[in-house]
Amino acid sequence: MYYNKRTHYCGGIGPEQIGREVILCGWVQRQRDLGGLIFIDLRDRAGVAQCVFDHTVSKEIFDLAFGVRSESVLCVRGEVRARSNPNPNIPTGAVEVLASGMELLSRAQTPPFEIGDDRVSEPLRLEHRYLDLRGPKLQGYMRLRHDITQSVRRFYDQNGFYEIETPLLTKSTPEGARDYLVPSRLYPGRFYALPQSPQQYKQLLMVSGVDRYFQIARCMRDEDLRADRQPDFTQIDVEMSFVDIDDVLDMNERMMAAVFKDVIGVDIPLPMKRMPYREAVERFGTDKPDLRFGFELKDLTAVTRACGFSVFEDAAMVGCVVIEGAAAEFTRKRLDRLTEFIKGLGPKGLAWHKGAESSSFAKLLSPEALAAVEDAAGFRGERGDLLLAVAGQRPALVRSSLGALRCECAKQLGLLENNRSFEFVWITEFPLFEYSEEEGRYVACHHPFTNPMAEDIHLIDKPGGLGQCRARAYDMVLNGYELCSGSIRIHDAGLQAKMFELLQLTPEQTERRFGHILKAFGYGVPPHGGVGFGLDRIVMIMAGTENIRDVIAFPKTQNAVELMMGAPDYVDGRQLEELSIRVVSEQ
Ligand code: AMO
Repeated sequence: MYYNKRTHYCGGIGPEQIGREVILCGWVQRQRDLGGLIFIDLRDRAGVAQCVFDHTVSKEIFDLAFGVRSESVLCVRGEVRARSNPNPNIPTGAVEVLASGMELLSRAQTPPFEIGDDRVSEPLRLEHRYLDLRGPKLQGYMRLRHDITQSVRRFYDQNGFYEIETPLLTKSTPEGARDYLVPSRLYPGRFYALPQSPQQYKQLLMVSGVDRYFQIARCMRDEDLRADRQPDFTQIDVEMSFVDIDDVLDMNERMMAAVFKDVIGVDIPLPMKRMPYREAVERFGTDKPDLRFGFELKDLTAVTRACGFSVFEDAAMVGCVVIEGAAAEFTRKRLDRLTEFIKGLGPKGLAWHKGAESSSFAKLLSPEALAAVEDAAGFRGERGDLLLAVAGQRPALVRSSLGALRCECAKQLGLLENNRSFEFVWITEFPLFEYSEEEGRYVACHHPFTNPMAEDIHLIDKPGGLGQCRARAYDMVLNGYELCSGSIRIHDAGLQAKMFELLQLTPEQTERRFGHILKAFGYGVPPHGGVGFGLDRIVMIMAGTENIRDVIAFPKTQNAVELMMGAPDYVDGRQLEELSIRVVSEQ
């Protein structure tokens, strides 16, 4: 037995080892029988090594190698030699190992798919996640995630932050997404909640005088899933005392720049751009603008008021984007598809314009009105521009659909393919409240602990002022993804109580849900603020994938199912009995 005497990783051998004996361990990627020679590509997390079994060297191990099947686990001993036919496509391609010994450590059945084959359906791969993880792509992502996490830890450690764990079994505070609940056996009828984020604990750590805290924190949210969301995900959670916005932004953008430099050698220029929320929405139709390309939104409402085209005239807002130099690329067929895309988002249609001769609306406008539209849009026919306009009764919808349209056009033009530029921006001055039609009341945009901007605080008591009040809140956005959110918190128990009142919580509800935090604030609380980064999203973008599941070892599907273990699952009647739980309906 010599597998525990491994000398190298398979991917770790090269010309330096020529003439030396090595011991490698790994999985059989491929076995080829060339008569008197058998080639086995042996794979481990570091790469692949070619092992050669020559019957003239040892008949016994040649016979053993003959019967070996893919994905079996082997240990191979042998001398490294130069290949007569080097393979420039793999890092170990200059050498091979002439086997003098071999152990078959584990025999594998035929796997349900070939390792590393991306064409296999995702459910099948998720069901056998341990096999999918063997492939070089996911191995690379796991390594990347590890490197990022270690770099984050180093940065905060060097800057005086303590890494502190907070409980997973905690209390439901329904001001956010839906909670995952855990029944308590000892207290029938009572439930723990899994944390949606360590928000309150980290604030309480500031009350405790910890001063600077961070945690690589697991968070759980029972919410509708999208491509960049998972029910359980990881935050880099940070809180600091005696700070204002600039201190928090400065520290955390330096963290991000350090990670990019450390892990992928990319220099991120600092300070990062900053853009107020309102400007982001007006220019890009979203608070998560992708700044890798232009196509900014233009408001045409003023110039279409009396243009002669009723669809424009009757709309509360007409907006457009100009896709520079792309008129020829967008054929009628593609424009029809873009129209369907826009309709799918809510607006009734899409108007397009390539010039007076080729336009869905030019003939309906007077020449003066058309010139005014082109001018306001920054449209230049001679440059081959394409103007895409959306009209509607809800300005917010017009803007958000144009925001999605500019991204769709960039995608269709291939501007995002293999695009490794990283355009960071801090979005600031978020609204403090937003009106929830569903709940018929104002809810906190970020969370109820967020401080209003000092210059807007007077609006809180003015009729209609809540919707106008801005928060000391910020998000870091990268290439259209929200990487983190954060805020300067309220540290005044009176103002915090007032916030709960504005959110229409009764004193009893406030006491039950948040009494602990108000009580703590009564014993001396420093001004504090922080952020929570989505670690999975950071890894996803650095990896260059659009699928968050790629960078999570054991992810869940879009339907919140973990296919490998089969979670969620039914449990024993006895377990339910112990928990005093009766299931009233099952699916
Ligand atoms: P927020 O709710 O904005 O803020 O979350 C912070 C960041 O976490 C990431 N994120 C997610 N990633 C994957 N799947 C999800 N379901 C998911 N939900 C959120 C995003 C987001 O920007 N306590 C506050 C932070 C603070 O104020 O300090 C919070 O949780 O990248």
